[in-house]
Amino acid sequence: MAIYVDEQTRTFYLESKNTTYAFCANPFGFLQHIYFGKRIAREDLSYGVFLNARGHGSHIPHGNWMQSLNQYSNECPTFGRSDYRESAVALDFDGVRVFDWQYVGYTILKTKPPLEGMPSVRGKDTLVVSMRDERTGAAIDLSYTVFDDVPVILRHAVIRNGGKKPFTVDRAYSFCLDLPDADWQAVTLYGAHTRERFMQRADLKRGVFSVDSKRGVTSGQMNPFAAFVRKNTDENTGEAYGVNLVYSGDFVLKAQIEESDTVRVLGGINDYDFSWRLEPDQTFTTPEAVLVYAEHGLGEMSRAFHDLYRAYLINPRYVRAPRPVVLNSWEAAYFDFDEKKLLEIIDATAKTGVDTFVLDDGWFGARNGDNAGLGDWVVNTQKLPRGLTPLIERTHERGLKFGLWFEPEMVNPDSDLFRAHPDWAIHVDGLEPCPGRNQLVLDLTRDEVCDYIVGAVSKVLRENAIDYVKWDMNRCLTENYSAHLGARGKETHHRYVLGLYKICERIVNGFPHIFFEGCAGGGCRFDPAMLYYFPQIWTSDNSDAYWRTVIQYGTSLCYPVSAMSCHVSDCPNHQCGRVTPFSSRGDIAHLGATGYEFDPTRMSAEEIAAMHGQIAAYKDMQDLVLNGDLYRLHDPLDGNLFAFELVSKDGDRAHITVMRSLCLPNDKCLRLFPRGLDENATYFIPETGVEKAGSTLMYYGLIVNIPFGDFTTATYTLLRR
Ligand code: DGJ
Repeated sequence: MAIYVDEQTRTFYLESKNTTYAFCANPFGFLQHIYFGKRIAREDLSYGVFLNARGHGSHIPHGNWMQSLNQYSNECPTFGRSDYRESAVALDFDGVRVFDWQYVGYTILKTKPPLEGMPSVRGKDTLVVSMRDERTGAAIDLSYTVFDDVPVILRHAVIRNGGKKPFTVDRAYSFCLDLPDADWQAVTLYGAHTRERFMQRADLKRGVFSVDSKRGVTSGQMNPFAAFVRKNTDENTGEAYGVNLVYSGDFVLKAQIEESDTVRVLGGINDYDFSWRLEPDQTFTTPEAVLVYAEHGLGEMSRAFHDLYRAYLINPRYVRAPRPVVLNSWEAAYFDFDEKKLLEIIDATAKTGVDTFVLDDGWFGARNGDNAGLGDWVVNTQKLPRGLTPLIERTHERGLKFGLWFEPEMVNPDSDLFRAHPDWAIHVDGLEPCPGRNQLVLDLTRDEVCDYIVGAVSKVLRENAIDYVKWDMNRCLTENYSAHLGARGKETHHRYVLGLYKICERIVNGFPHIFFEGCAGGGCRFDPAMLYYFPQIWTSDNSDAYWRTVIQYGTSLCYPVSAMSCHVSDCPNHQCGRVTPFSSRGDIAHLGATGYEFDPTRMSAEEIAAMHGQIAAYKDMQDLVLNGDLYRLHDPLDGNLFAFELVSKDGDRAHITVMRSLCLPNDKCLRLFPRGLDENATYFIPETGVEKAGSTLMYYGLIVNIPFGDFTTATYTLLRR
């Protein structure tokens, strides 16, 4: 049992691997945060509970002038009762927005119940602490889940209207964590389409630091992740707190330093353009927040996220299973294909060593470009007069699996669906909706729209022998409104996300034999909630090997490498024109769920032979991609080198990939310091024929020899003797 309650001091001790999270129901009746960090003894902590703290201006009723709520750490702060910092919950009772949570009691559960209507992490021991506002009957349950095997605490909240009148939820964050001093830096993941999840590190200053999305999707611009680290924290040393939201819509993560010189970290659904009407007896559930504490650097923090997501979030049926090695038709043909061309591509694909052919965009409706057809999930008979069957049969005859692309959430104005149901697209009457890639977003807040999508996509999946689906989503939301919600328009974006989860549940769970890959105009919706449905997500439309080192480096801060779909693509690269060696493209794509994305009919015999070699090498190391520990040995944006190391959990085997961006004549000796090896074991490195002790390799180093030329790579296998 990793949850302990001291009934006398009303202190809660939550113990996950190596960590303690402690808070108490204090004499004023609110939940006061005490500690989150390295494991400490389970003893009376009241001497550190700061009850005499002077805040200027106001204080707790019945307290003395030294007792301002502004000086206390709080598990669920609200506004208007002498805490002037960011609050976690804001409620509106017909204009009165002031309320007072008072501790009521707690329950300990042996199994964590799933969150209502939302994907969540599976877990066991869970503490639910209840608070109530006497005046209005509003109540909140704060939920905390602990783990023996990962340094993680899960948090979410359920707000309940236990009163007699409706009220409005204006803010419902998933967590609040008060860190005890102001000496922190924030690490976040920012970007754009084709440059998702670049890493930013910045000192926290006084005021509010915040990252968010208002786009209806978590977005490529900001990921729902943040880490708070010490100035001296690096990959292997120093404290790191990581936060990631299991959510796919508008989010916000904030860190505030105020007069007390502590940091308040909090976040959840973005309340910028959100509110939710709660009738008596109804509840509102926030998305889940994943909180990680790592004593030894960003690397340890990342491995905790990876272990958690592989063990408790991603579909257990697929998470550790060898991934399909695909050849995807997008950069091979874009929209320009017919049956003959596809059959040629399939025949050529069968000679490459991949095991799955994926037919991307362009096979349905009047889809001859990106301006028509979305929503019409019937075969484009102009291009494919005999339908999908001849393609699927040929693919299967050649021993390959067949994958198909969908973009279920979208509609083109030039489509039969839009002509029949123009009101099904998100819009405001009398206003021309903002298009994105010539398409509009279907209103997933409406059940009939969700039913149509599930029916249309399921029909294709039922009537054809499809093994793999790529689920795409190519624009952000605008017009945050839905006519059928009327005055409750601010509920639209969250209801959209709930609708998305419903259709994912029905389609993904309705076809358990099909492997689903997520995608959103590259990697613009790469979040834990999508990973719950899709064991891997297309990481970026930028498949240039160099830029992929940067994107995969940032993405790995909280997502396992097996979650990243990575393809070897054409040369010169279609996104930036860069020329890179085929071997480099393979080596970088193999640091994830690998695949290929070019026209195999145009490949030379040497390239096809190289592909066979690459795929064999990938299959040999795939277990490390699926199950290994990641060590980031070198950041590509910090100098000329990128290096990743994957190590098996038992330390028997490791794989290192290095890329040097620009060839530097007369370069210095390049030395890497692998991690995670057994110091006392001997490792054989077949690529060099060298045999060395784990300690020698880790502390004296591994000398790497990178081939001549720009953007070249080297790989090393370390095998325990
Ligand atoms: C965006 C995706 O990221 C691409 O891989 C491709 O599927 C296109 N959409 C198709 O429209």
